[in-house]
Amino acid sequence: MQIKRIFAADWHAAFAGNKTNIIRTNMQLIESIRQKARKENKTIVLPEGTEERTMRAADIILREGLARIILLGDPGQVQSLAGKYGLTALDGAVVMDPVHHPGKSYYANMLYEMRRHKGLQLSEAEKLVEDPLYLATLLIRNGDADGEVAGAMNATGNVLRPAFQVVKTLPGISVVSGAFIMIMKDRQWGDEGIMVFADCAVHPDPDARELAEIAVMTGRTTRAITGLEPRVAMLSFSTKGSASHPMCDKVIEATRLAREMDPGLLVDGEMQADAAIVEAIGKSKAPGSPIAGKANVLVFPSLESGNIAYKLVQRLAGAEAVGPVLQGMAAPINDLSRGCSVEDIVNLVAITVNQAAGK
Ligand code: ACO
Repeated sequence: MQIKRIFAADWHAAFAGNKTNIIRTNMQLIESIRQKARKENKTIVLPEGTEERTMRAADIILREGLARIILLGDPGQVQSLAGKYGLTALDGAVVMDPVHHPGKSYYANMLYEMRRHKGLQLSEAEKLVEDPLYLATLLIRNGDADGEVAGAMNATGNVLRPAFQVVKTLPGISVVSGAFIMIMKDRQWGDEGIMVFADCAVHPDPDARELAEIAVMTGRTTRAITGLEPRVAMLSFSTKGSASHPMCDKVIEATRLAREMDPGLLVDGEMQADAAIVEAIGKSKAPGSPIAGKANVLVFPSLESGNIAYKLVQRLAGAEAVGPVLQGMAAPINDLSRGCSVEDIVNLVAITVNQAAGK
């Protein structure tokens, strides 16, 4: 089963006004997102501007009117590669050379001012803005672009680090995390087989407060993408005090904080995975819980458990895993798998447009 990797920080726009339309397949999800993107006029920066799949995707995006595109790369190289690949619609892209563009000292100063308290020197900032991954985030911060898609040839950490440093998180949120929409073959789980898992992609070892933020953001992502009302289970190896350990205490505290942060969110824990999703076990292990036995959102206590769980469910249960959907970033910046296809990039740009439209 191939993963469609889809990142998103805040999908509020994606399915607004369409709350009853439950997504049953990845294809339905993607088609809705593309349709919506066509109606927006957003600018997406692609830092890997001379990478073949990225260039081919940009050509399709421009031809289909999904977004306006800024390609970062040497304009001569872009032009000659576009000719070689026969990409005629790429003429519509703005091409910006990270090493020689006229705004270089402006962006270097901007970065310096933002990071000098962290010990960044101006000379270092001048060097960093030549890195397309930094320049892309500065373009967003400056309002020149609405979002970014990268990662076809860069590791996740290298894409995320400048995003964290320059674009930062939403007000009231301190951590970015990654959710997966899991589309199960067996429709008995979640709501008609749809569940949301988090954090499966970003933050290795959240404390109680961060875990609460992840729960709240995952609830919002669930509403925005699937139209479903989230029922959030805070997972542990203990259900309602059956075990005693600081790890369980963290999840208990995170549950309390999540309720405090979002009183409208249906969230309960700590509970084991079986108590969260199997009705009979939920009733016996957590009697009276509004979530136990019927959770559609699973929040894992660490990245380790979340990442392992989504991959096992994907492989062993044949589920489609849509994501990771990045949550909590102040502007949409999305990371591709290095094994991505041209279509994955087109789709991710469409998603990023939807996110930008929702801001
Ligand atoms: N949310 C928001 N900001 C963050 C986060 C976060 N989750 N993590 C780090 N930051 C910020 C820090 O506050 C810091 O900001 P500052 O410099 O302004 O103070 C900056 O980012 C750098 O922080 P570091 O602690 O130095 O983080 P580092 O750069 O070492 O790592 C990273 C960040 C790359 C995201 C790391 O947490 C990581 O590698 N996570 C795992 C990603 C991964 O490999 N996922 C699994 C694969 S994806 C998949 O399977 C789908």
